[in-house]
Amino acid sequence: MNTEIPEACIQAIANARHIVVLTGAGVSAESGILTFRDALEGLWAKYDPRELATPEAFERDPELVSRWYDMRRLMCRDTSPNPGHGAIADLQRRTERSGGTFTLLTQNIDGLHQRAGASDVIELHGSLWKWRCASCYTPATDLPEPLAEFPSPCACGGFLRPGVVWFGEALSHDDLTAAAAACDACDVFLSVGTSGVVYPVAGLIDLVSVRGAPTIEVNPDVTPQSGQVTWSLRGPAGEVLPALVDSIGA
Ligand code: OAD
Repeated sequence: MNTEIPEACIQAIANARHIVVLTGAGVSAESGILTFRDALEGLWAKYDPRELATPEAFERDPELVSRWYDMRRLMCRDTSPNPGHGAIADLQRRTERSGGTFTLLTQNIDGLHQRAGASDVIELHGSLWKWRCASCYTPATDLPEPLAEFPSPCACGGFLRPGVVWFGEALSHDDLTAAAAACDACDVFLSVGTSGVVYPVAGLIDLVSVRGAPTIEVNPDVTPQSGQVTWSLRGPAGEVLPALVDSIGA
């Protein structure tokens, strides 16, 4: 591994009793899932995700939007968690086993943290695996893979939509409240694989920095938050996180 992890950074994680980890699309990149801002290939290359992930797009073309999300759901089903997901789950077990608290916040909708063994994941932007009726909000269960119809009907006459947060939609108040409370109380904050440009999630790190608590960023690229974090670990999550967790003896 090429990324040097400062001893003080290792100690900050090793001694922390209350840890918050925030992940973005970058933690799933090594599982083969394109990050949000990567250009999509093939059939979907001509669509800009920011044009499909909106209530207006669904209203305008529910077939196209439900096909796009179902394609992403099946793509995620056919991928596997990578060592970065595994290291986060290991760190959660270690922290909770020693009586500490571990709050895993993710912007990802792929469900890979849970498949790697993490629990109580707060999916701030929802999940590809939780569809509901766009009209009556009834959750859909036992969805066929792939969906049988595009868009899929609800008994009320409405259409099923993915249970994800679209541009212009509010995040769950309860999730945001829980995330902010964890950030207000944590000993260390670890930001993994996010460009840190989409609010309100991108603002969570400020709740930690303002208290002078240590913050760590794991990202091969520089982000707008790189200048504010205590340590920037400039490398891929699938390499850096296992090395970090091995260093503390999870
Ligand atoms: P982005 O695609 O904006 O950013 C992914 C980040 O991961 C970038 O900073 C990459 O440098 C980094 N990255 C790439 N490969 C990596 C690796 N192997 N290990 C670690 N980091 C890596 O995705 P997000 O930040 O998750 O919101 O985007 C946040 C939100 O913007 C998404 O949830 C979505 C989008 O608007 C909604 O859809 C509501």
